[in-house]
Amino acid sequence: MSGPHDRQSIEITRRQVLEAGTIVTMSGMLPVAAEAQTSSSQLPPENGSTVQVSFQINGQPSTLEIDARASLLDMLRERLGLVGAKKGCDHGQCGACTVHIDGRRVASCLTVAAKVDGRKVTTIEGIGSADALHPMQQAFIDHDALQCGYCTPGQIMAAIACVKEGHASTPEDIREYMSGNICRCGAYVGIVASIEQAAPQIERG
Ligand code: FES
Ligand code: FES
Repeated sequence: MSGPHDRQSIEITRRQVLEAGTIVTMSGMLPVAAEAQTSSSQLPPENGSTVQVSFQINGQPSTLEIDARASLLDMLRERLGLVGAKKGCDHGQCGACTVHIDGRRVASCLTVAAKVDGRKVTTIEGIGSADALHPMQQAFIDHDALQCGYCTPGQIMAAIACVKEGHASTPEDIREYMSGNICRCGAYVGIVASIEQAAPQIERG
């Protein structure tokens, strides 16, 4: 028969797993991204019409020859190895692919990669490190604001933008301006609480 101690140990174990998963995800992605940035110019262009794009990705300069029709999401995932942004619907309806261009959130599945020429792109891999999580990442851990985690990178990128846009002053505002990010696991209560926690820190800069 399970008692309160068993419940507690299950919850602690889950929290530890979430923390470990976040850190492993962060630490696992950063070297891949760094390697991809140094070697990306050596990758062969894709078939069809190509175009050269030069941009900043997570603070690092990058130049790629890409398929002129490629989406930003595909370029990030398949050419740069930055797989934090997820392909949920590929139709602009779920928010799993959210990244920032020049500090503004976009659905990268609907953004033509060629349009980032001369611009600054930031993905989930570029906002914190395993040793120093971004306040929004820490808040998601603190509030258990994820279950499967598939939507989480997009939720966090959208949440940071939501705060910077000035739309995080009330829970109602947060729900309204985060409504483009779907969570199939229904972690919305934790997501709203996370944004409320992290907002003051982000606003202070
Ligand atoms: S994958 Fe881009 S909005 Fe769903
Ligand atoms: S945590 Fe599973 S989809 Fe959001």
